[in-house]
Amino acid sequence: MKLNSANINVMVKACRKAAKVLIRDFGEIENLQVSVKGPGDFVTASDKKVEKIIIDELLKARPDYSILSEEAGEIKNNLTYRWIIDPIDGTANFLHGIPHFAISIGLEKDGEIICGIIYDPIKDEMFLAEKGNGSYLNNQRIRVSSRSKLKNCIIFTGGPRKESDTRDLSLKEYNNFSSKVLIPIRKLGSASLDMAYVAAGRCDGFWQRNLNYWDIAAGIILVKESGGFVTDFYGENKYLENKTILVANSKINKEMIEILK
Ligand code: IPD
Ligand code: CA
Ligand code: CA
Repeated sequence: MKLNSANINVMVKACRKAAKVLIRDFGEIENLQVSVKGPGDFVTASDKKVEKIIIDELLKARPDYSILSEEAGEIKNNLTYRWIIDPIDGTANFLHGIPHFAISIGLEKDGEIICGIIYDPIKDEMFLAEKGNGSYLNNQRIRVSSRSKLKNCIIFTGGPRKESDTRDLSLKEYNNFSSKVLIPIRKLGSASLDMAYVAAGRCDGFWQRNLNYWDIAAGIILVKESGGFVTDFYGENKYLENKTILVANSKINKEMIEILK
């Protein structure tokens, strides 16, 4: 492991422990898929179980850090450091037996993300980043792609949710993208992995509305440390306030902003 600060080690340990349970539960899904009741409640229980393992591990190592986690909400301690956790990002995939989901943990210091881990337990792919020290996939340094022509790119997006009040806007943005530039757009169903894949240069950009902080916290540092841009749809830093996020390599981000704004 090239990144081995104490906090990184804490995150890796928590992830590996939780992943064991996640992999075992994912194996169960296939059986439940064919049962009349379906895997719905089982998945909710899995989410909570995995979250508990992560939180217990993190608190054991760092009892005074605060926590914001999707299911458990806020645990307020130390005001300087805060873990931001999504125990399963890609629950719908998990529920359907599609092997594409991740554990995502970011670490904030004074409001800024300084470390991030996104772990895909099925493919055993661990994306890690630390401020000033770069981004890694397993032990290899990763960089965003250098593709500069949108027509040669692959772009990821997600949503909209059925019930969201910006559903029509999201659909309009999707149509703008696909009609203006005939590029492949993908919806893979895990925002954290979407961002990790931009960081690794597997795809070139990603945009989405209405994501929560735990969906993107670890992804933000991964993309930044791999040389990519993270902004809102207007090219500014207000992705949390505006609830729009755009990540891309430095060559196509302006063109993406033009299409989205
Ligand atoms: C979801 C995934 C998905 C995105 C949704 C998120 P969850 O997170 O990241 O890709 O489109 O907006 O809520 O519910 O699986 O943790
Ligand atoms: Ca999520
Ligand atoms: Ca989740």
